Amino acid sequence: MKVLVIGGGAREHAITWKIHQSPKVSEILIAPGNGGTAGLGENISIAADDIESLIKLAVDRQVDLVIVGPEDALAAGIVDRLQALQIPVFGPTQLSAEIESSKAFAKQLMESRSIATAESKTFSDFELAVNYSEAQETPIVIKADGLAAGKGVVIAQSHEEAKSALHDAMVSSIFGDAGKTVVIERFLDGLEASVFGFCDGKDLAMALPACDYKRVFDGDEGLNTGGMGGYSPPEFVNQALMEDARTQIMQPMLDALRESGRPFTGVLYGGLIVTEGGLQVIEFNARLGDPETQLLLPRLNTDFIDVVEACLEGRIREISIDWRTDSCVGVVLASPGYPGSYPRGLSIKGLDNMDDDILVFHSGTTLDEGSLVTNGGRVLTVVALGSNMHDARQRVYENVRRIEFDGMHYRNDIAARAI
Ligand code: AMP
Ligand code: GLY
Repeated sequence: MKVLVIGGGAREHAITWKIHQSPKVSEILIAPGNGGTAGLGENISIAADDIESLIKLAVDRQVDLVIVGPEDALAAGIVDRLQALQIPVFGPTQLSAEIESSKAFAKQLMESRSIATAESKTFSDFELAVNYSEAQETPIVIKADGLAAGKGVVIAQSHEEAKSALHDAMVSSIFGDAGKTVVIERFLDGLEASVFGFCDGKDLAMALPACDYKRVFDGDEGLNTGGMGGYSPPEFVNQALMEDARTQIMQPMLDALRESGRPFTGVLYGGLIVTEGGLQVIEFNARLGDPETQLLLPRLNTDFIDVVEACLEGRIREISIDWRTDSCVGVVLASPGYPGSYPRGLSIKGLDNMDDDILVFHSGTTLDEGSLVTNGGRVLTVVALGSNMHDARQRVYENVRRIEFDGMHYRNDIAARAI
């Protein structure tokens, strides 16, 4: 098979790394890819949201399968376009992907099926939104309805802060159209875990759970990022909780999507929180997570292409998916200034000095005349497996300390709470 992977992050490097091991795959194209995917296939310099050029690439190069990493392409309808051309594609259609691209739609569907989630109300009128928020207890959560690159959520500690978040989104339009409608919801307190269902439209198979760290600094201080690292499995998620997640949340949502004419094929991502009142949904996404993918695919023994084919052929329940029992920790190395502005082109050293079983997934890297340089905010995800979390954590940090680029920063507390 010739496979096209869409995206250029560490998630897509992990996907490419995994399918490169498949005996079914003979050639991989990655658009746009990065310095890490370059050694596993052919990087094609097309942005992940340039739908027209991606379609043309898939047709011209006669690819047998397209795997879509990021949400933007899904929300823009790349799956619908490829399906119309009879090109097999792993990911949900535009309408199904609204489970991620419209938080208002997601909340409405959850409420209609009594899927546990924070009480909320949706507004398109600024004054009404402010009036409602002022009648609620703080902290209160303000969410832009649409895609905002993970930055559309504000946890307001006061009514004043809530009003200013509403003003930013609805009046100043800092998220463009994505913030014209907002969801205001109750703050939930608890530990968060990400769960994933490989979905064939009707049924799903659950992947292993994982935790990610969204804030930039140790102790969950500082701004939100695309993710600074994570670990799997979470120490607070047992079998019974996973069974609840499957039967009370993931399968009911898959049913709800199918019954509303939006059958979901691809990876359904449940961002869950374990509260005193039980398991609740923070959000759904329509794809694999980043950095969770970098933690999960190294633990997947089954050929990922077999999983993808089972989803596309409506037989996910018929295959057995085999996982390693190891613990896994991943630490993201970021550019100086990230998540704010940062320089590019910094020379990266030390990657030739990693222990054999350490995995390094690239995101913001590129090759500059053959040598590896930074090319983004999050640069690398360094991943270690271990027989327990302590071991995996120790090994990942030992190796992280051997990598260098000017101003590199990372969190020191990834997986610390799990030990
Ligand atoms: P989201 O973009 O929906 O994943 O939100 C980003 C982060 O905001 C989540 O990972 C949570 O840490 C936090 N968050 C979102 N909604 C809530 C909520 N209702 N209560 C507490 N924290 C929340
Ligand atoms: N790990 C968060 C995300 O992928 O959205």
